[in-house]
Amino acid sequence: MMNTTRIITRFTVIGCILLVSCQNKEKQFIDENIEFSAQQTTLMLQETGEPKGVYPRSTDAEGKLVCTDKYDWTSGFFPGSLWYLYELTGQEKWKEEALRWTGSLESLKTFTKHHDLGFMMYCSYGNEYRIQPTEEVKQILIESARSLATRFSPLTGTIKSWNYRKAWNDSVEWFYPVIIDNMMNLELLFAGARLANDQELYNIAVTHANTTLKNHLRPDFSSYHVVNYDTLTGAARNQATNQGYSDNSTWARGQAWGIYGFTMMYRETKDPTYLNAAERMADWYLNNPNLPADKIPYWDFNAGQEGYVPGLKSQARTITGSYRDVSAAAIVTSALFELNQYIAGKNYYETAIDMLHTLASPAYRAKLGQNGDFILMHSVGSIPHGAEVDVPLVYADYYFLEALLRYRKSLQ
Ligand code: GLY
Repeated sequence: MMNTTRIITRFTVIGCILLVSCQNKEKQFIDENIEFSAQQTTLMLQETGEPKGVYPRSTDAEGKLVCTDKYDWTSGFFPGSLWYLYELTGQEKWKEEALRWTGSLESLKTFTKHHDLGFMMYCSYGNEYRIQPTEEVKQILIESARSLATRFSPLTGTIKSWNYRKAWNDSVEWFYPVIIDNMMNLELLFAGARLANDQELYNIAVTHANTTLKNHLRPDFSSYHVVNYDTLTGAARNQATNQGYSDNSTWARGQAWGIYGFTMMYRETKDPTYLNAAERMADWYLNNPNLPADKIPYWDFNAGQEGYVPGLKSQARTITGSYRDVSAAAIVTSALFELNQYIAGKNYYETAIDMLHTLASPAYRAKLGQNGDFILMHSVGSIPHGAEVDVPLVYADYYFLEALLRYRKSLQ
């Protein structure tokens, strides 16, 4: 008869064998996705050729590649994906492409016309500096952060997302709109603060995040998309939506930006208030009865529900529940890999792995040479504007690659 020690040893050995074989399977999963993403992006690069001032964003009705100019909020994602492919493959050719595409954005360092400079410069130059820091890139990041900071007003306690514009329905005016997405741009301010030892940049990021906590989040930690501020008093006048179903609904990608943004805020400040916000926002998303079983959300958590009244003017707003937004799921997947490092016992890691497998399944990952050579299918840009409905989006791919990288690092 075996004694207790031998039984424990045997179970430990079996456990280790299972763990190793499970890890090997997961490494194969990651490798296969890296291989596919590299092949697909190679095709994309054949289509685009050298950077010529236009950047992959989505596809048109015929499934053909649609590019934008560098001033669009998405211009930094393709260069950023090239940096991730360099890290994931270790192949020099990706670094050469990443350097070329990133370098083509340099003049944006003085751009101040909207808040998205954080996305544009941090996804591109931020990754470059993380991977191969140089004095030149350091100065570009500092200048970019200072350009973004010019949009901050101490009166509202926020960075103005957009200049004056009318809401989607053309009847409401926004003089000082701030959107939940803006949380993502704060990462550039923290980089600038660190690199230039500039406390003001740090303070602006923290003030913006605190104002967002107050005015964008509901008591249950769901989120409004837009807060419209009064330019004279600085007070929040009202909450609204730009890309969601209704002013009081929760737009899926907005919630995703909040989860990622507050996780990043905790990384940068170690203030538990932000960790609590990230956790509560993530739990709201993951436990929502309207989240499909595969955890790829509909474009808005309240689309078509009673009590959430869409505007009447745009025909597009009669489209209700059926579209998924893969970009929101990719953002949340990547965020959960990070959030898991700060909060134990919540299954965020297992959930992120699950979501990554779902994103990589044939339901959401394209076939080679299809989908305009983007990696993921079935995202939504803006249903109220009737724009980019059920298409690939460059930022879905960026956060998918980031999630793959974060997962691979977690296994090392
Ligand atoms: N930041 C714009 C969007 O998420 O559509």
